[in-house]
Amino acid sequence: MKLPNYHAPRWDEPVVMELGRPGARGQLFPAPEQEIEVAEIPAAMQRKDRPELPEITEFEAQRHYLHLSQMTLGMMGISLFGTCTMKYNSKTAEAATLRPELAEVHPYQHPDTLQGVLEIIHDFDGILQNLSGMDQFVFQAGGGADAAYTMAALARAYWADRGELGQRTEMVTSIQAHPCNPATAAAAGFTVINLPLEENGYPSIEALKAAIGPKTALLMINNPDDMGIYNPEIKEWVRLAKEAGALCFYDHANFNGVMSKLSARELGFDACMFMLHKTFGAPKGGGGPAVGAFGCSDEFAPYLPAPVVVKQGDAYRLDNDRPKSLGKIREFWGNVPQVVKAYAWARAMGAEGIAIASDISVVANNYMDKKLGEIAGIEISNPHIRKRRMEMTRWSLGPLAQETGIGTADFANRMADYGIDPWWMSHEPWIVAEPFTPEAGELWSKQDIDQWIGVVARIVQEARETPELVKSAPHNQAIAQVDGSVFEDPKAWAMTWRAWQRKRAGDAKARSGSV
Ligand SMILES: Cc1ncc(COP(=O)(O)O)c(C=O)c1O
Repeated sequence: MKLPNYHAPRWDEPVVMELGRPGARGQLFPAPEQEIEVAEIPAAMQRKDRPELPEITEFEAQRHYLHLSQMTLGMMGISLFGTCTMKYNSKTAEAATLRPELAEVHPYQHPDTLQGVLEIIHDFDGILQNLSGMDQFVFQAGGGADAAYTMAALARAYWADRGELGQRTEMVTSIQAHPCNPATAAAAGFTVINLPLEENGYPSIEALKAAIGPKTALLMINNPDDMGIYNPEIKEWVRLAKEAGALCFYDHANFNGVMSKLSARELGFDACMFMLHKTFGAPKGGGGPAVGAFGCSDEFAPYLPAPVVVKQGDAYRLDNDRPKSLGKIREFWGNVPQVVKAYAWARAMGAEGIAIASDISVVANNYMDKKLGEIAGIEISNPHIRKRRMEMTRWSLGPLAQETGIGTADFANRMADYGIDPWWMSHEPWIVAEPFTPEAGELWSKQDIDQWIGVVARIVQEARETPELVKSAPHNQAIAQVDGSVFEDPKAWAMTWRAWQRKRAGDAKARSGSV
């Protein structure tokens, strides 16, 4: 097979704040309009200094961002990135969010002037209700982890309301849940019980029974888990947890392979979340610029973060009168443009299209598994489990690592040299040696999947013949291998230009001996 002969451009591009010169302008803003009374802006909100913006021309700004985009692999390459369901983000959906009815409105406007966008949110809530059996969705969470936190905060509000928070102190999950489940439960004050996996790839019912009881506040679980294994006993899990009085939350990040095949409510769950930036075709970006749609049954709806979009007669309104609400998860109603994009995806697909996409994703993944299984040196996790995986699969590079010394992180670096996205490995702790977790999905063609597997086969060959080439990769990328040790040293990095300047100024002072 012909593999991509790729080389990234290399631009010596400074950060935008270091470009340009004083006085250079991309935009000339008009003076404030007469009727805007600057004095009416509260003093605390009035700037004391001019904003420190980059001083460059429009052309220079365009050139800068073009260069940066050219040095990015991006989503136009092939990305079989497991637990994340890569999907095409359509230009039509993007265009819908640029319309003035959405781009130029503000959540503080009177709801009478926001009926269109409220209708979209309400309709999309209905679509997710159909897919999950839940009674009410909200879109405030900025990603999956935020939605998991919504659950933890809801459980806290619920148990506090019943006067049992002092007794219900524990949250139960599995070692293969996404770390945001235990982390958010711990952040909400619960003690985390993490169940280990058994031979069959999921925790045993006995382990669950031993873990749950009168102290259990909630069960948070994903299924299929992040290994791609579906727990066939999930209904019994939920039954047992509810028998002990616990709330049950379904983390639906790995929903793609089961879309329209099962319903969280029918399995007994009280609440669930969907990631619009994964399953529903909205752009990526967990932990902030995305949306974790959170849904629950009527019983728990009073605890949802406000406002909730409701329909009264023919009108839509924002229900803020929710005295039992857990409070805010984020400002306003969440990232509404993402909701519109996901709504556009769902409407374009239709119920039938969503079911077909799910089937394709499972077939594609099993095709990928079959082909990967033909490469000597890599093996599927839990190889004794004969049952097929769902929409993604955890694999192991363990045998190859033993033979050649090339581990999964080396391998990932080399993948970028072929112009494809490095694979996703696994969350810590690694319970599979040298793991990687690909997910084929319905987006990629057979040719794309074959090419991706062709790259994997080529790098396995390189690991045997020229291991140094793999160890020192990437070679065709805009930047060479990054020394990851600096990530452990907060003094070495900065998240913003201002923080960088502060740290640099601190360094200069330290060097001159003034501190
Ligand atoms: C199972 C599972 N739950 C939760 C999350 C967290 O989602 P997000 O990255 O949107 O915060 C992920 C992310 O990959 C996941 O795989």
